[in-house]
This record gives sequence, structure tokens and C-alpha cells, in this order.
Amino acid sequence: MAIEGYSKEELGARIAEVVSPSQPISSVEFLKGREQELQDVERALYAKGRSVFIYGDRGVGKSSLAATAAFQYQSAEASPIFVGGAKDETFVSMIANIANQALGRSRLHTTKTTRGLALDWRGLKWSWGQELNVKDVTAQLAAVGDAVDLLTEVATVHSASPVVVIDEFDTIGEAEERHKFASLLKHLGDRGVPLKIIFTGIGSSVTELLGAHASASRQLAQIELARLGWEARREVVIQAAQKLGLDVDPNVAWRMAIVSDGYPAYLHLITEAMLWQAADDKDVCDQLTFEHYHLGLRKAIALVSMWLQEPYKAAVLQRPSEMEDVVWATADGEDLWRDTRDMYDAYKVIAEKRQRLDVLDRTNFTKILGRLKTKSYGEVLESVPNRPGWYTYKEKMVRGYVRMQAEAQNMELNGERPAQRQRMHISSNARSGYYESQIPRGARLAFGLDRDNTDKDAG
Ligand SMILES: Nc1ncnc2c1ncn2[C@@H]1O[C@H](COP(=O)(O)OP(=O)(O)OP(=O)(O)O)[C@@H](O)[C@H]1O
Ligand SMILES: [Mg+2]
Repeated sequence: MAIEGYSKEELGARIAEVVSPSQPISSVEFLKGREQELQDVERALYAKGRSVFIYGDRGVGKSSLAATAAFQYQSAEASPIFVGGAKDETFVSMIANIANQALGRSRLHTTKTTRGLALDWRGLKWSWGQELNVKDVTAQLAAVGDAVDLLTEVATVHSASPVVVIDEFDTIGEAEERHKFASLLKHLGDRGVPLKIIFTGIGSSVTELLGAHASASRQLAQIELARLGWEARREVVIQAAQKLGLDVDPNVAWRMAIVSDGYPAYLHLITEAMLWQAADDKDVCDQLTFEHYHLGLRKAIALVSMWLQEPYKAAVLQRPSEMEDVVWATADGEDLWRDTRDMYDAYKVIAEKRQRLDVLDRTNFTKILGRLKTKSYGEVLESVPNRPGWYTYKEKMVRGYVRMQAEAQNMELNGERPAQRQRMHISSNARSGYYESQIPRGARLAFGLDRDNTDKDAG
């Protein structure tokens, strides 16, 4: 027993309580760095007739924010109603799903009585614990107005202030079907139905997902979600460790903040693996150290979803070794758009650290960058429109995986310019040490550290 106070059996359950690498979070206690967004969502829900759309890149934490807000706002006698989009779902099939979900969790069910029916609507009868065939419901929903009628009934039966989460709304295949929800919101608002909808979707604007009509609408608060900030990234590991009575080496927390690239799933995966590592310690462990981190990181890498691993593998496996150096260079920077020169500078430092004999010249480097846009190289990168020589990650979350790979092979990417790296070379233990020059730009600002350098960076 290397984590004091827990047997091996208890430990597994406890770790699952403090990290959640594969499920959205639904409690404020574990939702880090979203205080402002949570408040924005809640305030929007309090306004009569207003619903919420949370949008942003894949994996930033949209479902977690939606679920946490839903539990906060939903009145206590029932649970929020969760439904998810999918390619073949339509407007009416989604409404039918909402009705089924809602009545499966209505307040009638929490009472002991087996009162006959939860809802009787246009000849359709939902009975206790029984779902209706989506087809039968669908047949009754010819127009958006019918959906409003049904949801009005559903709201009455469900609870005093029902919240529906429509997760992954963007996956509904037909734009036309998605756009019908805009008109639904308008009608729900006009009729004063107390039911609130929280949508989530991957995208860069609500117009893209719900249509122009909705994004101009007063019935919708639009919340754009970005990657986690520096402080929140560190809190994920620090809080989880604390709950098991452990400290975290501050440098480890910083490395995790950098490597995760602000994607919380990576933080949870690494933290989980580190905690198991601590559990395997021979002696009683009271701090998560670099040793736990490096061993845990390797385990975590293997657990990253395949679709995130694939682009990297396509780009580097069974390729000349410089491919990996180039891919790492593309991940060595904080900005989402990066130009070739910036990445070439990063590449030169990486090649030097790896003591490569053949270093690519700029022309060849540029050629290889171009290949990273192609299918056979995993489409790691794509061009930035109207900016020749600029690139961005096609799937933004892949960059964190690339950083994890580099880190596991002892290449600490920091997103810094060569000038700063030179300074780091001077110190013998710079690799794992805590130096101001290693703190990323954003964090340095937040902590009021090293302002002079920060200004130079920006220039
Ligand atoms: N604010 C947060 N603090 C700590 N952990 C978080 C936070 N937000 C999300 N997570 C964790 O990150 C992971 C991804 O979160 P979530 O599923 O909410 O993201 P998403 O944006 O909905 O992803 P997708 O685009 O794949 O649907 C989950 O494991 C969740 O537990
Ligand atoms: Mg999600």
C-alpha cells in the first residue's frame, strides 16, 4: 500500500472518483477554469425563453460544461434530460428522444405510486418506465408547432424547471434538420414554455450549426469555449492528487500544463496513470514526482484514443527519422497558426538536441511540411487560408498527443524561440528544472513574472 490510507481495492474506486478521463464532468467541484462560462450559462438560463449554445473545438470540455450547468439549473425533483445528436437523427427523432428520456425520468417515477400514465398526448400513451416507439411519436410531429406542443406537455410532467442537453448537435447530418431547432427555440420562447435547452457542438460559430436565423436570435446565448487556461490545467492534477493526500512537484504540474495543450482529457489520462504509478511505489508516497510523471506518461500515451494517435503514426512510423523531428517542431509553439520560419527554428533546436548529423535545410524542411498536409501523412497539418507559408493543426487536439510523444522521448517542447533555449542549455538540469524561461508566455503574464522577456517574445 503505497498511498497511505487506501487498500488496493479502495484505491481503484477512489481514483475513478477524482479523475474522469473518458466521461464528461457534471459537478462544479471538478470543473476547472470555467467559473465565468458557467456563470454565463446560468444567467442565460434564468432569462425567460432563452436557451444556450456551447460551441468550440473537439475535446475542450463542452459536454462537461453543459452537464454541470444542467445539474445546477435543473430543479431538484428530476434529473436533466440528456440526448445526443447522430448522423441519421432528424428534428422529429430528436424531439421523440427528448420526450422518451424526459418521461423515463419524470417526477412521477420518483414517487412510489404506480399511477397509470405519465403522459397522454394525441393518443400516444407513455406509461410508467416504458418508452414509446420513436416512429409512432414521429408520425405525430408534422410541423415544428407539434414539437412545441409535445415539449410543453413533457415539461409539465417532468419538473418545475426542466433542462434538456442536446449534446453533439453538430453530428446531425442534415443542415435542414438542424435549422429547424432555431424555429423551435423561437416558439418555445414565444409560448413561455419553461423548458431550457443547452446545445453543444463542434464548430467555430453558431451560424454554422443552427443557421443564420438562430444566431441572430434573442432566444439563444452563444458561449464559445476555448482550451483550458494555465491555472486550470495545473489544478486538474493538483486537486486529484490532493484528494488522495498527495502533493505534486510544481514542475511536474507545469510540464503537464504545457504538454496537455489545454485539452483536459490528456490531463486526466496522465494524472490517472501517475496515481497508479504512485500506488505501485515500494515506499509510502506523498508526492507525485518526475518519476511518476515519466512512467505515467508512457502509459497514458497508449490510452489516448486511436483517432488521435493515427495522424501521428501515419506521419512518422516507417519514415526517415527526420519526419519525427519535423512533426515535433510543428507542436513546439503555443500559437494555433504558425509560419514556416517559426517551425524551422524549432526544428533546428530539436535536431541539435537529438544530435542529428544531417539537418534539413529550409527548402527541404518546407517540402516535408507540405507532405504533412497529405492523406498518407495523416493530414496532421492544413494551410491557413490566404496566408502562404502558414499552417495549423487540422485536428487541433492532435498537437497535445504529439507533445506527449516528444515528452516521453525526453524532448521537452516549450513553445519557445531558440534564443531562450540557448539560455536553457547553460544549465545542467534545465530539462526538468523550474526556470522562468520555461514557463509559457501566457502563464508568465498571469503570474506577473519576467515581464521584460514576455514583451520581447511578443515582438
Ligand atoms: N473544466 C474542466 N476541468 C477538468 N476536467 C475537464 C473540464 N472539462 C472537461 N474535462 C474533462 O475533459 C474530458 C473531455 O471533456 P468533454 O467530454 O466535456 O469535452 P467535449 O468538448 O465535449 O469533447 P468532444 O468534442 O469530444 O465531445 C473529459 O474527460 C472531462 O472529464
Ligand atoms: Mg462532448
